Amino acid sequence: MQSNAESDAPAADFSSEAVIEAIHTRRSGHNFDPESNVDDETLESIIEDATLAPSAYNLQPWEFLCVQDEALLDSVVDLAYGQEHVRDAGTAIFVLGHTEALTADTVFEQWVGAGHMDEETAAETKAQSVGMYDDEQMGRDYAIRNASLAAQNLLLSAHARGLSATPMIGFDPEGICELFSVPDSMVPVMLIALGPSGGAEPDRLPRRDVATVLHRDGFEE
Ligand SMILES: Cc1cc2nc3c(=O)[nH]c(=O)nc-3n(C[C@H](O)[C@H](O)[C@H](O)COP(=O)(O)O)c2cc1C
Repeated sequence: MQSNAESDAPAADFSSEAVIEAIHTRRSGHNFDPESNVDDETLESIIEDATLAPSAYNLQPWEFLCVQDEALLDSVVDLAYGQEHVRDAGTAIFVLGHTEALTADTVFEQWVGAGHMDEETAAETKAQSVGMYDDEQMGRDYAIRNASLAAQNLLLSAHARGLSATPMIGFDPEGICELFSVPDSMVPVMLIALGPSGGAEPDRLPRRDVATVLHRDGFEE
């Protein structure tokens, strides 16, 4: 993996092969070890990996609500229509997306501060980015697109760190918002059950093949 030529940061300690292997071997875990849980340091590393996901204008319009308290986990299982693997996992993470441009002021200051944009361009671009949220449907679309990419990073990071993780939308979003006092400017996009694996998962189901899903230069009429 090549490092960013414009960055002084050291090259990450991973290989392209490892990334491809992680993509190919990641599974949605339904068999968690109920006796163990992710440690705090690993949890924070996984969240950091999630925050490295791309986002429109680099707004990073996401939050991660992590639930480990046993009574709250029971409530999450109830709101997830009884999906018990959430409790066995030990950690439930809600990836929330912003439906309003909550971070625009900070982020565009950073664009200017880093010398990537002058003040005038930043003001115009910020107005553009904020404008994307004027329409309620688009704001929701934005929330889901950006937060979904963060969620995928989270899944791959958990897998690469030897943990099992399952993305889930089988939950009552209104109930979750009420239980955890989620602000009106956010929507729960994905619930991720996270924890040490309790053993092998069933074989992966077949994927639609490349010839079926790849459309070169348009769809056939
Ligand atoms: C948007 C979305 C919603 C999902 N919802 C649930 C869910 O509510 N409960 C669950 O156990 N798995 C859920 N899954 C996991 C899928 O069942 C799983 O990704 C799929 O069967 C493919 O298996 P794999 O991830 O192991 O390759 C969901 C996955 C996605 C992407």
